[in-house]
Formats: sequence, structure tokens, C-alpha cells
Amino acid sequence: MDGASSQPGPYVIRIVTGKRLARPVRIAFIGVSDAAPDEMKDRVAASGFVINDPFLTGQAALAEVADKADVNVVVSFRSLPRVNKLARLNDDIDVIINSDETGLVPDPVQVNNALIVFAAKETKHLGELRVYTDADGVVDRFTARYVELDEVIPDEPGMAAITAQARREIDEVQNRMAEAEAAVYSASNSSNASSPFVLSDTCGKCHQTEYAIWRKSLHSNAFAALETRRRTFDSACIGCHSLGFQKQGFVNIKATPHLANVQCESCHGPRRCHVAAPAAEITRLRREMPVASSATIAQTARISILPNTGQSSLTRTL
Ligand code: HEC
Ligand code: HEC
Ligand code: HEC
Repeated sequence: MDGASSQPGPYVIRIVTGKRLARPVRIAFIGVSDAAPDEMKDRVAASGFVINDPFLTGQAALAEVADKADVNVVVSFRSLPRVNKLARLNDDIDVIINSDETGLVPDPVQVNNALIVFAAKETKHLGELRVYTDADGVVDRFTARYVELDEVIPDEPGMAAITAQARREIDEVQNRMAEAEAAVYSASNSSNASSPFVLSDTCGKCHQTEYAIWRKSLHSNAFAALETRRRTFDSACIGCHSLGFQKQGFVNIKATPHLANVQCESCHGPRRCHVAAPAAEITRLRREMPVASSATIAQTARISILPNTGQSSLTRTL
């Protein structure tokens, strides 16, 4: 990234006024994020992003706002032990709003001078922290709660514009990374022969009925749903909308376009050996299918979306 966007300020200060406030309150918001884990270092370097040491950056920002703000709020994305350490080592932090990869939302905790509250994952909830002061203006209690941002609550237009823009920028970076990954992938997978998957078209040669149903179903076009929403590279989505993600199958849409969509083997499992010897493998298939498929299906697919029957042809027990 270049220009101003590569150097976002480490903090912003907002001045809050209100009938119940004796005087305007200056609140500094300082953002820190965990450094990338070691195994991601190369990918971060390739992305063009630079991640500075969060401790030093946070401390420098706190020193800078010392005379400019009355309340210091740190917005952080850090693991629990690290966020606790941040609070212990910095006496000037009043509130930390934290989130981490687990997406867990524990109860607020006081560590050193800081109240640590947790933001719910993926902006699906609005966190509301209210603090109350006594007659002398000293904070004496707080309430913290979450409001679900469901379809009843319209998007805030400013925020929606920011997330749409962020999604575009992330998509561009991910596109570039996927292309690089695809180049490496195609160099080491010049033929499909080592893949455990044979793909739906192969199954269709013998199972024409199932193939015809599948082609008309949304399963055969499941990846398009991610494209229209710019989620093509989101690992939270692609597992269910492709074949064999993280299981020797789908890598990304540039490297493995043939493994996009929910294919026969998304539910039936890799079947290269069945194709090689359909009859020999049939006993095993029959034995495994009800168990294996019901578990996979609970995860991968709601059966009712096969359109030609209106209802499932797949619920029959073997
Ligand atoms: C070369 C032809 C051929 C190909 C290709 C093939 N199958 Fe089969 N499949 C068969 C035969 C033959 C049977 C046994 C049918 C029977 O006994 O009713 C069978 C049975 C099955 C069954 C069990 C059906 C039942 O009635 O118990 C499933 C499930 C299945 N195949 C899935 C697949 C999938 C998924 C693929 C693609 C990965 C695939 N097959 C590819 C020939 C094939
Ligand atoms: C656990 C599996 C799973 C995950 C994870 C998943 N999906 Fe899906 N998705 C499904 C299933 C199953 C359907 C079809 C059933 C339905 O419409 O409810 C579906 C349907 C959809 C549809 C509607 C498809 C259409 O053509 O109308 C969209 C859009 C969609 N998913 C987007 C996403 C996005 C975006 C993500 C990631 C944030 C995601 N999905 C993650 C399983 C999943
Ligand atoms: C969304 C999950 C899912 C997908 C995708 C899927 N199947 Fe199935 N299939 C099942 C389940 C579950 C059953 C077993 C339940 C049943 O017998 O009705 C089944 C049953 C079958 C059978 C046995 C049917 C019978 O009447 O004996 C065959 C053959 C088969 N599938 C082949 C395929 C082929 C070929 C594809 C791809 C073109 C495919 N399936 C895609 C879930 C799926």
C-alpha cells in the first residue's frame, strides 16, 4: 500500500459533550493489533502490510495523548494473556475494547487501571458500555451489554461505506496473494492424478440421474454466492462452498477453480478409488454413507435445496 492509507494514525481523539457532563470529555482511541504469528510472517511481507510492535506503538501513542485526552481507550486485537499484559504495563489505559481470533466474549474484567471489555466478532453485535459517575464525577459503576445487529437494525450508512471500501481493498490484496499461491500450486500439481477427488463430471458419467439433479441445484453453483459478496477468499465461507478445502482439495479460486462449488464428493467424500473399481468399493460405500453423509451434510448442505423434487430425495435410509 502507498500514500496516506499506509500510515493510519495510531489514535484519534473525540470530544464528547452532554447534559450530564460537567465539561466536555476528550476521549483518545488508540488501536493496536497482535503482530502476525511466525508462520504468517512471509505472507504478511508479501501482502505489503507492515506490522509494528504493538507494545511499543501503544506506549508511544499513550505518551502522545497524555496531555490531549481525559480518557484513554485502547481498541485491540490481541490474545487474552497479551491484552492483560498491556493493561498491567500501562497505568494510563482506562478502557480496553478487545477481540481475538477465538471470537469469545468473556465478561468485562478490571486489570490494573483498565476495564477490559470484549467486542463481539465480525460486527454482528453492537457493544454498549455505559459508565456512571458519583456526585464528584468519579466513575463508580458501569454496565456492558450487546445489541444484536440483525436485519431489524438498518446499516449505519457511514459505517456501511467504510466496510464496503475495506472489503474491496482486502479483496484486492487477497486476489494478489491467491495468484501468487496459484503459481506455486500449479508448479507442484501439474496433473490432477494425485488428487483424491475425481469431480462431479466424472461421477456423472455413471450416475446420470444424480448428476442431473445436482446440476440444477444451487450446490453446483454455490461458489457464485461468495463472488457476489466479495467473500471469495474468506476462509470462514469457502469451506462449505467448495470441495475438500483444507482436506487436499480446494486451495483458492485461482489455484483450484475446478474444486469450487459443492460437488458430489463434498458429501460422499473423495471417491477416486470407487471410480477405479465401483463394484469392489460398494460395500464400504454403503456401510459408510449414512453415517458419513449425515455428519457432512449437517455441515455442508441443507438437502431441501434440490429444486426438481421440491423435497429431499436424499433422506431415504439405505
Ligand atoms: C465407472 C462408473 C462409476 C463412476 C464414475 C462412479 N460410480 Fe458410483 N457407483 C457405480 C456403480 C456400478 C455402483 C453400484 C450401483 C448399485 O449397486 O446399485 C455405484 C454406487 C455408488 C453409490 C452407492 C449407491 C447405492 O445405491 O448404494 C454412491 C453413493 C456412489 N456410487 C457415488 C459416486 C460418486 C460420488 C462418484 C464420483 C466421485 C461415483 N459414484 C462415480 C459406478 C460408478
Ligand atoms: C457451515 C457451512 C457454511 C458456511 C461456513 C457458509 N455457508 Fe453459505 N451456505 C451454506 C448452505 C448449506 C447454504 C444453502 C442453504 C441455505 O440457503 O440456507 C448456503 C447458502 C449461502 C448463500 C445463498 C446461496 C444462494 O445461491 O442463494 C449465500 C449468499 C451464502 N451461503 C454465503 C455465505 C458466506 C458469505 C459465508 C461466509 C461468511 C458462508 N456462506 C459460509 C453453508 C455454509
Ligand atoms: C449435499 C450432499 C450431497 C451431494 C452434493 C450429492 N449427494 Fe449423493 N447422496 C447424498 C445423501 C445424503 C445420499 C443418501 C441418502 C439417500 O439415499 O437418499 C445420497 C445418495 C446418493 C446415491 C445413491 C442414490 C440411490 O438412489 O441409491 C448416489 C448414486 C449418489 N448419491 C450420487 C451422487 C452424485 C453422482 C452426486 C454429484 C452429481 C451427488 N450424489 C451429490 C448427499 C449428496
